[in-house]
Amino acid sequence: MILITGGAGFIGSNFLLDWLALCDESVVNLDLLTYAGNLANLSSLENDPRHIFVRGDIGDIKLVPELLNKYKPRAVVNFAAESHVDRSIHGPEDFVQTNVVGTCHLLESVRAYWGALGEDAKSSFRFLHVSTDEVYGSLGQDGPAFTEENRYQPNSPYSASKAASDHLVRAYHHTYGLPVLTTNCSNNYGPHHFPEKLIPLMIVNAQAGKPLPVYGDGQQIRDWLYVKDHCSAIRRVLEAGKLGEVYNVGGWNEKPNIEIVQRVCALLDEMNPRADGKSYLEQVTYVTDRPGHDRRYAIDAVKIERELGWKPTETFETGIRKTVVWYLEHQDWVNNVLSGSYRDWLEKNYVERVE
Ligand code: NAD
Ligand code: DAU
Repeated sequence: MILITGGAGFIGSNFLLDWLALCDESVVNLDLLTYAGNLANLSSLENDPRHIFVRGDIGDIKLVPELLNKYKPRAVVNFAAESHVDRSIHGPEDFVQTNVVGTCHLLESVRAYWGALGEDAKSSFRFLHVSTDEVYGSLGQDGPAFTEENRYQPNSPYSASKAASDHLVRAYHHTYGLPVLTTNCSNNYGPHHFPEKLIPLMIVNAQAGKPLPVYGDGQQIRDWLYVKDHCSAIRRVLEAGKLGEVYNVGGWNEKPNIEIVQRVCALLDEMNPRADGKSYLEQVTYVTDRPGHDRRYAIDAVKIERELGWKPTETFETGIRKTVVWYLEHQDWVNNVLSGSYRDWLEKNYVERVE
């Protein structure tokens, strides 16, 4: 079996569902169930004995060794993290705690477990760390996309904490020989995306008749990848990645934020038109920019394609259509997420932004 962390979150839950749809290898899912963790993402696995859910912290140096010794996974895939840039600006410490200290504790637990394995199990074991393109900093308008050789220049507390975790993972390979793999992926979108992030926030706010808050001039560029393509890249790296290597993962799909918002509005106009016949674009509101806002991310995904034969299967058009349909068809999921603590977050992040 394998052990994954953060499997109740956005990408982890998609990975888990796809994994069990594709094979019968069981998964231990260690997740702390922070505000971002949601067991409703995994409701279809409720009676599936191949999924073992454990609520707990990757930084728990008692629990994690117990789980490793009990279930003896052949691999650990680390999705668990604090993942939202705006939250990291309001409060960096949780990010340091989970992304840096938590990852360090997890690595220590895994190192002890791996060190005690027999030779065969030891050589086939893998620790795959899921990271982000944000560690490379911000690109100029025309500069080449990030390759694995780019310098680390994280600009937000979130990306700084992910950069630190990447460095620890690298160091555990070089110092202790731990068989690690790291993926650095661009912006994901798709089902189960928590509506604090741009695309689901726009869908949910549009439906609720609320403003669609675009930071600054809306010309910041992100490179969007459908979440299921990210999951297939992780499976491929786990299967065939070279030990100690880093693989950039991206969709070859750079778009300014305002175009994303316009596309979401156009799809909603088509699938669920406003009662007054006007476009959802009427709700777009430009608001105060994110402090330190990175202007552009873009991933050069040549290495993973050339060495491992991975390519995304969805275009942005097919992926965004599926995403909007998913949100429209899962109003219960949305209502369940829009709890008191979500409302507190909206208050904190948006009330002081002026139009
Ligand atoms: P998410 O915030 O949706 O989910 C994170 C999950 O981790 C949640 O289920 C949460 O409960 C769990 N978690 C948080 N702290 C924990 C802890 N201390 N111990 C155990 N579980 C804990 O995040 P996501 O968007 O699914 O991102 C998953 C990973 O992928 C993260 O490492 C993130 O940095 C990385 N990533 C995300 C994107 C993206 O666009 N979302 C892109 C590239 C990389
Ligand atoms: O690049 C990968 C990263 O993508 C991941 O590592 C992060 O975990 C993930 O959250 C995401 O980070 P971003 O900051 O790029 O995603 P977010 O959805 O928060 O914002 C996308 C863009 O949209 C960004 O330029 C900020 C802008 N934005 C966001 C929100 C929430 C707005 O204009 N308005 C908003 O209300």
